[in-house]
Amino acid sequence: MIPSDCPIVVVGATGAVGREAIAILEARGHRADRVRAVASARSAGSTIPYAGGTLAVAEAGESSFVGQKIALFCATSDIARSLAPVARAAGCAVVDNSSAFRADPNAPLVVPEVNGEEVARARSPALIANPNCSTILLLVALEPLRKRFGIQRIVVSTYQAVSGAGAAAITELQVQAADMLAGRAPKTKVFAEPCAFNVFSHNSAMDEATGLNGEEKKMISETRRIWNDPEVEVSPTCVRVPVVRAHSESATITLKTAASESEVRAAFEGARGVQLIDDRKANKFPTPLHASGTDTVFVGRLRADPGSKRDAAGRTRNHCLFLSGDQLRKGAALNAIQIADLLFAK
Ligand SMILES: NC(=O)c1ccc[n+]([C@@H]2O[C@H](COP(=O)([O-])OP(=O)(O)OC[C@H]3O[C@@H](n4cnc5c(N)ncnc54)[C@H](OP(=O)(O)O)[C@@H]3O)[C@@H](O)[C@H]2O)c1
Repeated sequence: MIPSDCPIVVVGATGAVGREAIAILEARGHRADRVRAVASARSAGSTIPYAGGTLAVAEAGESSFVGQKIALFCATSDIARSLAPVARAAGCAVVDNSSAFRADPNAPLVVPEVNGEEVARARSPALIANPNCSTILLLVALEPLRKRFGIQRIVVSTYQAVSGAGAAAITELQVQAADMLAGRAPKTKVFAEPCAFNVFSHNSAMDEATGLNGEEKKMISETRRIWNDPEVEVSPTCVRVPVVRAHSESATITLKTAASESEVRAAFEGARGVQLIDDRKANKFPTPLHASGTDTVFVGRLRADPGSKRDAAGRTRNHCLFLSGDQLRKGAALNAIQIADLLFAK
């Protein structure tokens, strides 16, 4: 665990992920005088509430890292590429939430519940990449099944909250919803499509050759890297839904070893970071509203794939599930802080 007197700088402290990182540090009792908040020049001079007082926000620059031990990067890839080397040169370990270093062989890509041991591979000062939010949530949910049965294939559809596109997207959803309820035409800025009362293909760049968007490509490449399994077959469809925060995902997986539904269910007992909400009688399953603000990935709708045959013992390799998890916390800020915890364990 990060000692509460460890100097930490949060880069992008005013954004959706940065604010969450600061809220987690605050809830852990991290000393206010050991948290430095930096963002763009636009935010310099503003304040963030913290532990009954406030943190002053400064403009990020070379001096931001002097005397700091950990830098939590919660800004764009460009900022990470330009300032992470500066932070490390100042002796600061970097955990980056952007996609800048996720394919860098010198930067471990880590989900603590899945491949936390990779942190030990980091050079000093460490540079560790936080995976894509949809990938983190999926892999935390699947880890009990991967450990017990192995996984050969994943077909997954995401239901992604607008806050995955940053703080400005939350405002866009709120303003559009109010406008449309009042009979006014929605104005779009962050997304090309209206996000209120709508569902649309993920806003990341579409690759015309493959038909995959950027988010789908990340889910494929990052799953393979985190699992150290270039053979795993991942077929994602990534979509935005009019939800403020917490992503949901529907997955059908092919196990390496056939299992019955009760064996799959039993694999989740005691699993780290995952909780089942799977009450068929009450028709109660994970929802993004329930997952919002929590640290847990909620899994439900566990069922043997009705489209595949079972053996005499009721076993099949194909199973379905649904999950909801807060992508601002476990999909970003919390995962990054848990990685920093592991640096101290190391
Ligand atoms: N949102 C998610 O669910 C999620 C999940 C996983 C990973 N991520 C990744 O996390 C990062 C942050 O995402 P976000 O959703 O928090 O975005 P956001 O809400 O748009 O926040 C961006 C942050 O970056 C800061 N920033 C912009 N230009 C800067 C500069 N020149 N120098 C220093 N700081 C600068 C912004 O400061 P100002 O307020 O001053 O502009 C703001 O604090 C992104 O790389 C994103 O891909 C996001």
